[in-house]
Amino acid sequence: MSGTINITKFVLLLVLLASANNYQVGCNFTLNYPSFPDQVSNDFIKSSKSNIFFDALQVTADVQGAPITHLAGRIVYKKRFRLWNKDKIASFNSTFVLNILPKDNGGGEGVAFILAKDSGVPPNSEGQWLGLVDPSTNGSSQNYIVAVEFDTKKSFLEDLDDNHVGLDINTVYSAMQVSLNSSNITIASGTYTNITAMILYDGRTKMMNVSIFKGNLIGPNSSTPVISMPLNLSEYLPKNVYVGFSASTGSGSELNCVREWYFNGDDIDLGMPLWVWVVIPLGIVVLLLLLLFGGYLYWKKKRFNNSRDVSVFDDPTIQGIETGLGPKKIKLKDLKAATGNFNAKNELGRGGFGIVYYGTWKGHEVAVKRITNTPQGKQNLIAEVTTIGSLHHKNLVKLIGWCYESDELLLAYEYMPNGSLDKLIYANEEKQDGKEKLPLILAWERRHNIICGVAQALDYLHNECMKRVLHRDIKTSNIMLDSEFSARLGDFGLARMFKLSERSHHSTKEIAGTPGYMAPEIFHTGRTTAETDVFAFGVLTLVMACGRKPGGQYDQESESNTSIVDWVWELYSLELVTDAIDPKLKGNFDKVQAECMLALGLACCHPNPYMRPSMRTALQVLMGEALPPSVPFEKPIFMWPTTPPSFNREESYSGGMLTSVSSLSGR
Ligand SMILES: *[C@@H]1O[C@H](CO)[C@@H](O)[C@H](O)[C@H]1NC(C)=O
Ligand SMILES: *[C@@H]1O[C@H](CO)[C@@H](O)[C@H](O)[C@H]1NC(C)=O
Ligand SMILES: *[C@@H]1O[C@H](CO)[C@@H](O)[C@H](O)[C@H]1NC(C)=O
Ligand SMILES: *[C@@H]1O[C@H](CO)[C@@H](O)[C@H](O)[C@H]1NC(C)=O
Ligand SMILES: *[C@@H]1O[C@H](CO)[C@@H](O)[C@H](O)[C@H]1NC(C)=O
Ligand SMILES: *[C@@H]1O[C@H](CO)[C@@H](O)[C@H](O)[C@H]1NC(C)=O
Ligand SMILES: *[C@@H]1O[C@H](CO)[C@@H](O)[C@H](O)[C@H]1NC(C)=O
Ligand SMILES: *[C@@H]1O[C@H](CO)[C@@H](O)[C@H](O)[C@H]1NC(C)=O
Ligand SMILES: *[C@@H]1O[C@H](CO)[C@@H](O)[C@H](O)[C@H]1NC(C)=O
Repeated sequence: MSGTINITKFVLLLVLLASANNYQVGCNFTLNYPSFPDQVSNDFIKSSKSNIFFDALQVTADVQGAPITHLAGRIVYKKRFRLWNKDKIASFNSTFVLNILPKDNGGGEGVAFILAKDSGVPPNSEGQWLGLVDPSTNGSSQNYIVAVEFDTKKSFLEDLDDNHVGLDINTVYSAMQVSLNSSNITIASGTYTNITAMILYDGRTKMMNVSIFKGNLIGPNSSTPVISMPLNLSEYLPKNVYVGFSASTGSGSELNCVREWYFNGDDIDLGMPLWVWVVIPLGIVVLLLLLLFGGYLYWKKKRFNNSRDVSVFDDPTIQGIETGLGPKKIKLKDLKAATGNFNAKNELGRGGFGIVYYGTWKGHEVAVKRITNTPQGKQNLIAEVTTIGSLHHKNLVKLIGWCYESDELLLAYEYMPNGSLDKLIYANEEKQDGKEKLPLILAWERRHNIICGVAQALDYLHNECMKRVLHRDIKTSNIMLDSEFSARLGDFGLARMFKLSERSHHSTKEIAGTPGYMAPEIFHTGRTTAETDVFAFGVLTLVMACGRKPGGQYDQESESNTSIVDWVWELYSLELVTDAIDPKLKGNFDKVQAECMLALGLACCHPNPYMRPSMRTALQVLMGEALPPSVPFEKPIFMWPTTPPSFNREESYSGGMLTSVSSLSGR
């Protein structure tokens, strides 16, 4: 929204700039100076020989000690007055009080009220030129000046006398002049006599009237003006003119003072240039649109928050996690940048939940999982993921960060250079008809080590976390291998969030898991429990030992319909269990370890969930801290409902360390 505000400010600024021009706009041009104290000095543009002293405009100033002969001065109001526009001419009324004290040689030359294009006094305009025009340009229409002169000296032949009023247009030779002899007024009558002049101009009739009175006579007066002359000001002057006074002295001198000044000018229009009329409505329209747009965004955000996101981002656990050492919230654009905008080149694989991309983020190699499979309630998922993601174990894939923006759900995990187990355990089989045979990467040692790692991770999830976490989808493709070929369990806890109905034959139930790894009771209860995790771990153990796909009635990926559990159990009952060991190992394996691992796998795959060992026991068996559980030679028949064994469990497994039944039952 800050951008919006900036644009609004900009539009307002434009409007203000348009109005703050060099002339007043929108109100009548009014000057009101009953006196000229120093404070008003900045209202005026003053030529070098002019100033404001003693509460008066000193148009030709008496600068202490300096002679006041041969001066020219001009003082105008700082803003210009809009005199005319198109065919309209403004009316105005300028009333002022003059006080003129003759000094050298009987006084001179005079003072004038002016309307002029220029604020400055022309050069060489002292003496008879009254500060109006330069002698070289006398008479030129380029002077753009109209003046009412109050002449106190007869300077040349055409001048009437030394006490007259005249109207001058671009020259000092008056278009009209009137002597004041008859009205018994002397312009230069000294300090103790004020003269009031009133100049009225009617823009409609184009008449200029000049009246002159003795004393301070401010107020309407109907007495006959001394000058009343038709004058089309727009013929001689530009649209905008400075208004003020000019004065001069010659060999004779005087103090030319203006003691009061009142000016009233009409507006002829709003005085705004045309473009303002375009900009203001446009600005308003833009403003409205922006407001609408802003409102829409606000509404959308609010709705969005209400509908789905609010619970996620208000969840204190997530916020806590963000600040802690757990997974961080990462911006979508950062993850896009990390993966080259989900470039197909960076694709690492496809899983049940989405596509995994390789990327680098803040110098870390990451595997970014882009969830495409719509889970039920993404906000729950994020809560779950971040909670689970804050678990740390050397055999768990670390969740570095997550992102939920614009309906994109992304999880960034640490990158596992050796990929997932399924790629390696079946590798040779897949490449069988290829020309070069891949070297066997997963030797027995590594397989055993991997199974130990998985058992440690599951034991941690089941028994060591504050809250028990079930994996729910243990299988080879969910086990990653780090650079040391140690097992790293991935995607733990996620499976619960996703429907697998499209793969499940029990479409009425939402079952999490992968066929072949699913315990038989799941198809009855529809629930995953610690024991179902143990079953899947058992299948995984057999797969690792045999290098064979799990098979089974629900596994469409496997070529064989016989499940690995049935197949191994068969060999076990024939006491040929080591025949099950992956032929790719070419007999290079520890026989005792292999028998132990297969027995453990079968025990974990016991059809009765109550008979399966716990992950803690399984781990102890693998570490050699407990004897392998005894496995019946005949695979027991699956019975529903399952029942806890009536006999003492301590006897059922040698070294059995089964956790209590109640703690095993799923939550
Ligand atoms: C300007 O002056 C004229 C005449 O003196 C008056 O009719 C008009 O209302 C004034 N306008 C404003 C905005 O003061
Ligand atoms: C000044 O101009 C007027 C007409 O514009 C002309 O009559 C007059 O002779 C001029 N005077 C001088 C001194 O140039
Ligand atoms: C006005 O009076 C003065 C002397 O008082 C005289 O010189 C001048 O010619 C008179 N002006 C007119 C127009 O009569
Ligand atoms: C002119 O004014 C003087 C004083 O200001 C006065 O004495 C005189 O009578 C006046 N003359 C006329 C004709 O009004
Ligand atoms: C002349 O006008 C000024 C300004 O209004 C005033 O202060 C002063 O008293 C007046 N002088 C006379 C002699 O009336
Ligand atoms: C100017 O003076 C004439 C003659 O006295 C008068 O008819 C006219 O109304 C005056 N105009 C103004 C604007 O005062
Ligand atoms: C001219 O201005 C003066 C001073 O503001 C005022 O008293 C007078 O009434 C005005 N006259 C006209 C015709 O506007
Ligand atoms: C108009 O001016 C004359 C001459 O100065 C004066 O006698 C008269 O009283 C004034 N009228 C008004 C209404 O002020
Ligand atoms: C006033 O002068 C202007 C510019 O020369 C001209 O366009 C306009 O028609 C004149 N107005 C009158 C009433 O003569």
